[in-house]
Amino acid sequence: MMFFAANVQAQKSPVYLDAKLPIDIRVKDLLSRMTIEEKAGQLNQLSGGAFTGPALNDNGQKEKMQLVKEGKMGSLLNVLGSTDTRAIQEVAMQSRLKIPLLFGYDVIHGYKTIFPIPLAEACSWNLPQIEKNSGVAAKEAASAGVHWTFAPMCDISNDPRWGRVMEGAGEDPFYAALVSGARVKGFQGSLKDNDHILSCVKHFAGYGAVEGGREYNTVDFSRVQLWNKYLPSYKAAVDAGAATVMNAFNVYDGIPASGNKYLINDILKKRWGFKGFLVSDWGSFKEMIWHGYASDDKDAALKAFKAGSMMDMESKVTVKYLPMLVKEGKITMQEVDEVVGKILYFKFKLGLFEDPYKFSNPEREKANLFTAENRSIARTAAAGAIVLLKNSNNLLPLKKDTKIALIGLYADSKADMFDFWVAQGSSNDAVSVLEGLKSTFPNLMAYAPGYLSDNSTNDSLIQSATIAAKTADVIVVNIGISGKMAGEDRALAYPQISAGQISLLKALRTLGKPIVALVSSGRPLVLTEAEPLTDAMLQCWILGTEHGNAIADIMSGDKTPTAKTVMSFPYAVGQIPVYYNHFNTGRPTTDDPAGNWYSRYRDIPRDALYPFGFGLSYTSFAYNNIKISAAKLKSSDKLTVSVTVKNSGNKSGEEIVQLYIRDYAASVVRPVKELKGYQRVTLDPGASEVINFTIGAKELSFYDADGKQMLEPGKFAVMIGGNSRDVLSADFEME
Ligand code: BGC
Repeated sequence: MMFFAANVQAQKSPVYLDAKLPIDIRVKDLLSRMTIEEKAGQLNQLSGGAFTGPALNDNGQKEKMQLVKEGKMGSLLNVLGSTDTRAIQEVAMQSRLKIPLLFGYDVIHGYKTIFPIPLAEACSWNLPQIEKNSGVAAKEAASAGVHWTFAPMCDISNDPRWGRVMEGAGEDPFYAALVSGARVKGFQGSLKDNDHILSCVKHFAGYGAVEGGREYNTVDFSRVQLWNKYLPSYKAAVDAGAATVMNAFNVYDGIPASGNKYLINDILKKRWGFKGFLVSDWGSFKEMIWHGYASDDKDAALKAFKAGSMMDMESKVTVKYLPMLVKEGKITMQEVDEVVGKILYFKFKLGLFEDPYKFSNPEREKANLFTAENRSIARTAAAGAIVLLKNSNNLLPLKKDTKIALIGLYADSKADMFDFWVAQGSSNDAVSVLEGLKSTFPNLMAYAPGYLSDNSTNDSLIQSATIAAKTADVIVVNIGISGKMAGEDRALAYPQISAGQISLLKALRTLGKPIVALVSSGRPLVLTEAEPLTDAMLQCWILGTEHGNAIADIMSGDKTPTAKTVMSFPYAVGQIPVYYNHFNTGRPTTDDPAGNWYSRYRDIPRDALYPFGFGLSYTSFAYNNIKISAAKLKSSDKLTVSVTVKNSGNKSGEEIVQLYIRDYAASVVRPVKELKGYQRVTLDPGASEVINFTIGAKELSFYDADGKQMLEPGKFAVMIGGNSRDVLSADFEME
């Protein structure tokens, strides 16, 4: 009898495979069956495909598959497609406990249907659209076997020399926080179906502040800046439910982010209550040795773990040394279980124990990728990202029968339209500017490249461009830099329009015809020299698959531009970093225009060429009559601020009305302006609307150096306008 009962027990499937049980019980049961080597394996992530970082003693696919079979791999990145993910998952199913792998990938702005780069997308100020775009990207990726995207990047940056500004949401903490939240929601949904994927908040923290904009460089800023400027965007993404967070490459306060207890244990886990898991950036555990913080691989594994870091992307130090560190008593099994449990949790949550191939279905992959519907969403998103910087004499929009000459290598180079992070998007599928304009403007009569791929030019290129432009009504010139210069490891000392493109513009200018410049770039470039050589300028960024169509939509007036830049455009390279939310300094200005001794440049203006929040429409808007509900306020009160916005032009248009505040005196100095709200309003010509904003403690408080939220009495300004420079202002006092 006894023998019989034991036998039945042995045949019963383990508790962790019982889908009816709550996840935490299943996790606990599974952990109780795992060896320390298998637990360390869950913290191991290697690239199973392309390399998106340096090879660190890579031993090839065979060794990796062996690790998968032995249960010593928790996740692979860069493995995709329903066929490949299934094949490798099948190997994981040969492991002792059959713990499924997580497949991670950089789905940054689309998977197959490519959306505008995140920086451009953010210029739409359209959160529902942003969430929708991420949702499409998630569904495509999920249909191709991917469980997890390494996005959104929530790094605030003021520095267009940094190639990765393209991945973020610009320079403003308040707005970037909203965008980060929307992106997380779009990617993850409720994680209950297989149309959504895990998101990853990166790079925690402060990576956008790399000195001189140089990739992988040092970061060094105060805790006041950390709390007020850099953290809100990550926090919003965590609050939106992001499942994972990625360490940054940089140091903060002299300690590499991957080993930084203050950032991970104190802020992320304790103060923010983050319950998900962390993944290192590519090799960032091991890089702590190069930083001069860890003495060797084992020390790196220990320091990363003790600081609160978890999964090890590509360093292989955790899989190798965690078991030893546990045996030596430096790390307890309880600590290990807590961390591994978090990773297992998401594997259960995605339903992978029930069906490890849930995301790997070729029919679904075929049906869901690059659909007409996805492309149409991408086209709308792309048009919503184009910023109209200049429009003298209302040159734009152009009538569809306008005789156009199109000049510029990038207008006909699909490869140059795509940036570094295009996942499985193919530039061959993308619509070039030439194609987009051709299908909208039948009188596009001539095209000439005008410059070479290094942005230089020569007499013969200029000559053929001027010949091409001679009989046109309007010359459209695509200037900027190659899309290939946008992304990781693409730092530039001179983010500007090249001398060659300026010569080209000058030559075209002599023809005396109106010139429209289309600027393509993954970052704001210095446009100071180009601007006077043009009549209209559209900042087109890198718009993805529908690039050319979206530009045609805007140029023809089929769609009206509504975007506003979320990064300031520097006047000169030497002015970088330039951003709207700077401190006032002790020498902000002087009343005497000829005066000396104040903070400025002697050779250029102090302010940006185009400030944060700037973007024109085909109509114009007038702001009048700013009113506040009270001149004095108690800390518990709410203040209503209103302004009248009128469409003062002769076309319908949509305006993004922006609200800024200033705290004149506080226990730590506050920026001259801080965005605290915005609203969209659509108005017909001549129509006006009163726009109301409500502000209170939340908008008026700030963080001290310890991350404590402070609300202090004193004088404040509230400002409203269509960009961060041109605002109406009213003062009030909080008691
Ligand atoms: C980047 C990350 C990226 C990772 C994986 C790193 O080099 O910094 O943002 O997610 O590679 O591709």
